[in-house]
Amino acid sequence: MGTLSKTLTGMFITLEGGEGSGKTTQARRLCEWLTSQGRHVLHTREPGGTILAERLRAILLDKSEETIAPETEVWLILAARRQHVEHVIKPALARGMIVVCDRFSDSTMAYQGYGRGLDLRLLRRMNSWATGKLVPHLTLLFDVPVDIGLGRRRGQTASQNRLDRETQQFHEKVRAGFRLLARQEPRRIVRLDASLPLESVQHKVEASITRWLKTHPSKHPRHR
Ligand SMILES: Nc1ncnc2c1ncn2[C@@H]1O[C@H](COP(=O)(O)OP(=O)(O)OP(=O)(O)O)[C@@H](O)[C@H]1O
Ligand SMILES: [Mg+2]
Repeated sequence: MGTLSKTLTGMFITLEGGEGSGKTTQARRLCEWLTSQGRHVLHTREPGGTILAERLRAILLDKSEETIAPETEVWLILAARRQHVEHVIKPALARGMIVVCDRFSDSTMAYQGYGRGLDLRLLRRMNSWATGKLVPHLTLLFDVPVDIGLGRRRGQTASQNRLDRETQQFHEKVRAGFRLLARQEPRRIVRLDASLPLESVQHKVEASITRWLKTHPSKHPRHR
């Protein structure tokens, strides 16, 4: 994290993956587990996490809006991300908290870059600018075959959103994008087989966090 790591003492964990890969379920379980160990945890999500950013989320997910151009989508997502980093994530990290965030910059690379075909280098620079170069310490990639993920989503009919209308082919590109990102940054991004049962995935999540905390022992004291 470059110069940021001098002032931000907490740990920033992001959960990434396609639709229905189990991010939200595992984020909740992870936060409960960390809290039970006496750690100070902030659970948040993207797009969202502040009042303005949640308004932008509603616009982005609303399926009745006019069609949103890919470029427009990027600006809205990054506007939300900046607010979130500024008002929520950085202050929590400065207080030494563990921030668990459901989606972050890798989703922009996977969806808008690999999925919609926008320029990857440009997106990387825009992300870096929007976040003030904030990069997660650890990213868990929940990797699941598209039909399994979408099948799980179909079980949640009440929360169908704009992205559920995308084609299978779009979601395949997103998945391939995420897997490529994980291969490019193997030290930061841990790919987990999210087609396994909930409890197995949860154990893998906990093992990944434990391993990370063990190799970075000085900075993350328990708070009780
Ligand atoms: N490993 C699993 N095995 C079976 N079902 C699962 C598993 N993980 C999550 N589910 C179920 O799949 C559905 C989607 O899970 P969840 O909402 O956590 O996914 P998500 O990645 O947050 O999805 P989205 O991208 O839509 O936000 C939920 O009903 C959840 O209970
Ligand atoms: Mg979710």
